[in-house]
Amino acid sequence: MRRMLTIALAAVMLLPACAQSSKPVKTLVTYFSATGTTKMAAQRLANQHSATLWEIEPAQPYTAADLDWRNDQSRSSLEMKDPDERPTIKQCTDITPYDTIYVGFPIWWGICPRIINSWLDNNLEQLQSKTLIPFATSGSSGIEEAEDYLKKTYPTLNWQKGMLLNRR
Ligand SMILES: Cc1cc2nc3c(=O)[nH]c(=O)nc-3n(C[C@H](O)[C@H](O)[C@H](O)COP(=O)(O)O)c2cc1C
Repeated sequence: MRRMLTIALAAVMLLPACAQSSKPVKTLVTYFSATGTTKMAAQRLANQHSATLWEIEPAQPYTAADLDWRNDQSRSSLEMKDPDERPTIKQCTDITPYDTIYVGFPIWWGICPRIINSWLDNNLEQLQSKTLIPFATSGSSGIEEAEDYLKKTYPTLNWQKGMLLNRR
């Protein structure tokens, strides 16, 4: 018995390091960006983590008029007033290979734009087994309200601490 154990142990020790270690974590950085700021933050993050970068693009792009937060009838204002609004996304994402997913967005009215809900809803089943890290850019707001909103709206997902990536 002892001899068999010794042989088994020796066999494990002789395995190449890659065969012994668990499979490497695969990371996706996905983001929505209306005017390019979050896109730059996402690119930096993807470089830092050797991650795949994926842009969440609306089927109907946002015009400058759509983004006018001073107009309470603009597209973004109307979307943000309706918690059930889910703007259509141009292409779906294959998230199967990824363990950790950074989800980035500009802060709109304190929280994430509704297109982030569209993306989360579209992928909800598969997201249950992933680790999610929100990140955002903003004019001045923090990310805390957006984090609270995401945790409350998607309580079954594994949310980690979020990051505000405004450049100083
Ligand atoms: C409709 C709308 C609402 C916004 N609401 C906020 C807000 O509540 N707080 C804030 O600090 N910035 C707000 N901003 C500013 C954006 O969060 C900021 O400019 C962001 O960096 C833009 O990112 P993007 O270029 O990736 O779209 C808002 C911008 C828009 C268009």
